[in-house]
Amino acid sequence: MSDIVLLKTGIELPMNAEMVYFNYFWLRDNCATSWDSSTQERTFDILDEADDLHATSAWINGASLEVIWSDGYQSRYNLHWLERWHKGENHGDLAVRARKTWYGDHYPNMARFSYDDVMANPASVADWAEAMLDEGVALIQDMPNSNEGLKTLCELFGTVRPSFSGYTFDVQSKANPENLAYTSKALELHTDLPAEELAPGIQFLHCRVNDAEGGNSLFVDATTVANALKQSYPKYFKILTEYEVPYRYTTHYQDVRTKQRIIELDPNNGEVSGINFSQHLADVFDFSQREMDTFYPAFRKFGQMLQDAQYLMTFRLNAGECMVFDNHRIAHGRASFIKGSGARHLRGCYVDRGDLRSVYRVLRASYPKAEAEVTAPL
Ligand SMILES: [Fe+2]
Repeated sequence: MSDIVLLKTGIELPMNAEMVYFNYFWLRDNCATSWDSSTQERTFDILDEADDLHATSAWINGASLEVIWSDGYQSRYNLHWLERWHKGENHGDLAVRARKTWYGDHYPNMARFSYDDVMANPASVADWAEAMLDEGVALIQDMPNSNEGLKTLCELFGTVRPSFSGYTFDVQSKANPENLAYTSKALELHTDLPAEELAPGIQFLHCRVNDAEGGNSLFVDATTVANALKQSYPKYFKILTEYEVPYRYTTHYQDVRTKQRIIELDPNNGEVSGINFSQHLADVFDFSQREMDTFYPAFRKFGQMLQDAQYLMTFRLNAGECMVFDNHRIAHGRASFIKGSGARHLRGCYVDRGDLRSVYRVLRASYPKAEAEVTAPL
């Protein structure tokens, strides 16, 4: 095996029978002394370093790489730590997990927790958050019939975040509806509010009363469908991960617009992480007319596949249940119900996905799974 080589811009060192390269700026920036020991924030300033920052010497010392820099400073790096970065592993992030995709028969297997259990047991919140990361859905049962019940449940994951509807929304028929949700009509499969620059992350839908005839809930794991599209129609898949599609939501006093990709990819592992799909909030597509020739077939095929019965989980949401789902990953909808057949009221709100992941990292570190299923590297 060759010795360490000092190049103009970085170091080559032997690692597992190959020579591996590390950039000087990256190494200097990530010296263990770069962080404040109590806050874990970086206090080192790479901007102050010389343009020609380089190592004057470097050697392996047991399980460490030792480096002397051009200004005389010495850094030490754990070789296992360097190897993890070289391999592009998930760097100890517990919240980067492989998604478990599901089909239309998922209802009996859907993760379920009782309100009292998650309110009392942080380990159950960790299990609930894990189900949200892995499967994107969970059902909370035995909810109190109160606004406070929903708020306290959400706050286990984070702060309730407002949308342009406010902090919460109520899905029930209105005399002058500004949104199809507030009628008795069917709601086609969609994700909520893609017209917002940061579309809502985790959605809570608390069923307070459901005495209406009809109105079954529809949920689809869009990652399953997007993966199937990638398999069968790779060109369509590529188009939907690249085109920026305009969305718009208006009320009597709001005009909210942004552009989103129909299919989103997870920068951590390249998996399909979610979708932005809402025909009733889609604005006029503004690509060139020639591009419409390729965009529309892709868009239509994906939308048709979303509605395929093999992917569609259909069930009746009952009073006292709260459906919690990843609004970027799970498309949802509703069958029509018979107006006047009985009261129907769902109260909803959102929490950011980042809050969910943060809660999971903290709680899972404190309450590891008994079977040591956590696979993150040290
Ligand atoms: Fe919705």
